[in-house]
Amino acid sequence: MNYIGSKLSLLNFLENSINKVVDKNCDTFCDLFAGTGIVGSYFKKKGYKIVANDIQYYSYVLNRHYIGNHKELNFSKLLKEIPELKKNKTENRKNFVCDHLSNLKGRKGFIYKNYCLGGTKDKVEQRQYFSDENGMRCDAIRQKIENWKKEKMISDDEYYFLITSLMESIDRYANTASVYGAFLKKLKKTAQNSLILKPAKLIINNQDHKVFNDDTNEVAEKVNGDILYLDPPYNHRQYATNYHLLETIAKYDNPKIHGKTGLRDYDKQKSLYCSRSQVQKSFKDLILKAKAKYIFLSYNNEGLMTLNDIKEIMSLRGKYGHFTKEYNRFKADKSKNRNYKADKTVEYLHYVVCKNV
Ligand SMILES: C[S@@+](CC[C@H](N)C(=O)[O-])C[C@H]1O[C@@H](n2cnc3c(N)ncnc32)[C@H](O)[C@@H]1O
Repeated sequence: MNYIGSKLSLLNFLENSINKVVDKNCDTFCDLFAGTGIVGSYFKKKGYKIVANDIQYYSYVLNRHYIGNHKELNFSKLLKEIPELKKNKTENRKNFVCDHLSNLKGRKGFIYKNYCLGGTKDKVEQRQYFSDENGMRCDAIRQKIENWKKEKMISDDEYYFLITSLMESIDRYANTASVYGAFLKKLKKTAQNSLILKPAKLIINNQDHKVFNDDTNEVAEKVNGDILYLDPPYNHRQYATNYHLLETIAKYDNPKIHGKTGLRDYDKQKSLYCSRSQVQKSFKDLILKAKAKYIFLSYNNEGLMTLNDIKEIMSLRGKYGHFTKEYNRFKADKSKNRNYKADKTVEYLHYVVCKNV
């Protein structure tokens, strides 16, 4: 998923830098602004026990699958509804269930009625986040998953795997420049293709992991890890508004929505890390209460906090240092006409070796 602030292309930089600082006895890695879960997934594959958290529910779902699921899914209770599943080896059942869902007939549900042209043409606001066909496919798949859960035909692990697969898949057909803060007037090429549900990757390992869906400043008091990795928002852009449709697909809770983009209420998910006047206080509170041997922070040279703010706050816990890497700016709108100050930013990985854990 193309996610604001994704660390997908910085994973090697993160790992190499972290390895230069930490001792060999570290086995817990806490990713407390987890987003897509890509950082936690990477360190999960390296054998770490992961603790993940994010304030957004869609992110909780992604992490509940990529991090929380670590054993094969066998969909045994679905055999009644899909007897052909029996012929599949366990590791192939995920694909089979996704194919089954891809073949469902579309339904006019919440997504079609509020975010597709066909469903909104007689309403005050017309919206075209998805083609009519894909909106209906999304509704049919999402409703089926919920019914299976209600009827106890799938386990929690299977449920989060399926919603993750749906969010990752539908995101590839969205009629947006990249994020859900706006939709395009004309249906772009990729949005015209028919939605196919691709199974999300499953990372198998033998550790138990924990996943939370809360404010990091609350979670920090509950978790105790060797390595604490923090990747908060860098600027004023709230994730709740930029990914509101993923939130609604994940929750499927028929929210009240408003305005041109059909935004849901996000009062409880407003991040203090996106506020120039609040960010330092919040960050200091977090650093002071974190229970870890090492704290790492990803931030860039254009963020709301300055290098000095960060150094001062992190030094309160012990010996401070940082690593840097030049980085290509995230482009929500890939059109060439946009006027950027610079195409590259400097990505920092700040750290502190904590004196008192
Ligand atoms: C820069 S992104 C993280 C990206 C992630 N490392 C990745 O590679 O996908 C920041 C994340 O912090 C989350 N967030 C913002 N404020 C938060 C808070 N107070 N508590 C928990 N999560 C928060 C956002 O929802 C967003 O997913």
